[in-house]
Amino acid sequence: MRIDLRTTLFVAAVALPANVLTAYAVSRVASDNLASVESLSSISNPAARSAAYFTELGKVLTSPRCLNCHPAGDRPRQGDTARLHQPPVERGADGFGLPAMRCPICHQAANFELGRVPGNPIWHLAPREMAWEGKTIGEICAQIKDPARNGNRSLASLVEHIGEDHLVGWAWAPGAGRKPAPGTQQQAGALVEAWVTSGSVCPKP
Ligand code: HEC
Ligand code: HEC
Repeated sequence: MRIDLRTTLFVAAVALPANVLTAYAVSRVASDNLASVESLSSISNPAARSAAYFTELGKVLTSPRCLNCHPAGDRPRQGDTARLHQPPVERGADGFGLPAMRCPICHQAANFELGRVPGNPIWHLAPREMAWEGKTIGEICAQIKDPARNGNRSLASLVEHIGEDHLVGWAWAPGAGRKPAPGTQQQAGALVEAWVTSGSVCPKP
């Protein structure tokens, strides 16, 4: 079954011109709006303003595009309703799956539209300590600031990760049948940056 699927995907992939396979990786489609940094700058209380930047960013973090890969359990989730991943894959030791069901068997370097399979060269599950599913925006905020739970990242590198990382960027070009994360990746990066430079205050849990 596993070999069959891989073969099918491979045969279909080589039959398609490369531009079809990469088209979705480069498109930038804004869906629901995200408030801009400028529009929030009128909040006069500095702490409230900083927290408001993160609350706005929270619309991105809690969108299914991000949450499906930052689940609380060992299985990724799928689709706009965040149902459990079918077939039943698990994170495994490195986030790339158990030995018999590695993510890249199905998830290729780019979205594969014929099979509706999302893709990225390093498609894998966020580690358990980076789970956001079932948490409030305030809890996610505290966790994202904590080097013990954010992959030992500085606040500055969080700005870069959310604003520029290619795997994160997939969420705004997720392929047909999936709603992109709100706003644009650039807007999300600008919100993180504004939050960091304003003192990285977290919303109440
Ligand atoms: C046997 C094939 C297969 C394997 C192995 C596999 N996936 Fe998937 N995955 C799929 C297919 C097909 C979809 C699209 C399902 C749909 O949306 O209809 C998908 C969708 C997803 C989505 C949903 C994206 C979204 O927001 O809708 C995530 C997340 C995901 N896979 C993560 C993983 C991870 C992490 C691994 C490895 C631990 C993995 N998958 C292994 C086939 C597979
Ligand atoms: C295909 C799965 C996948 C998707 C989709 C995904 N992530 Fe991640 N994310 C990961 C993995 C894997 C890591 C761990 C990477 C590392 O530490 O090097 C991670 C780590 C992170 C981190 C740093 C650790 C932390 O939790 O503080 C942030 C921030 C992050 N992701 C943001 C996002 C955002 C925002 C989205 C949606 C716009 C998103 N991710 C979508 C897999 C994913």
